[in-house]
Amino acid sequence: MITLRVNGQTHQLDVDPNMPLLWAIRENLHLSGTKFGCGMAQCGACTVHLNGSPIRSCVTPVSAVAGGEITTIEGIGGGDDLHVVQQAWIAEQVPQCGYCQSGQIMSAVALLENNPNPDDEAIDQAMAGNICRCGMYGRIRKAIKVAAGGDVQMFDPADLQEEVQHG
Ligand code: FES
Ligand code: FES
Repeated sequence: MITLRVNGQTHQLDVDPNMPLLWAIRENLHLSGTKFGCGMAQCGACTVHLNGSPIRSCVTPVSAVAGGEITTIEGIGGGDDLHVVQQAWIAEQVPQCGYCQSGQIMSAVALLENNPNPDDEAIDQAMAGNICRCGMYGRIRKAIKVAAGGDVQMFDPADLQEEVQHG
């Protein structure tokens, strides 16, 4: 049995100790926000936090994180209680296909917890392991700065509707 602490809850899992954490998160705990991209620690789609630091869950055996505090995208906010980084992501309309985005957000949250006011270099360094095939790096950088500033102007779909209707 492996004991995993995920998003503040304790789980006992009867799994192979070498099984990647990503498998346990998605298949055993049914938390599908964390994505499988490369499976080789090359893309960052599978990023979660271990004790507040970003890790690649696709190459992390469950036995290596037993007893640690794991946080997934589902654990940082949701519904009406979005994390400020999630709010900034919406406000700046960062996602395109969206596949990389939970990993991007997890890396951004960890960055801002360690460095509340990162410059471009710090952002690029922290986010270097998160690949976006849609190339949204400029918007990602901007959204991190917006979240750091704490002044997120939420995107209102009604404004867009108004614009479409009245030009
Ligand atoms: S799926 Fe883990 S880094 Fe790509
Ligand atoms: S939004 Fe499509 S891969 Fe990043």
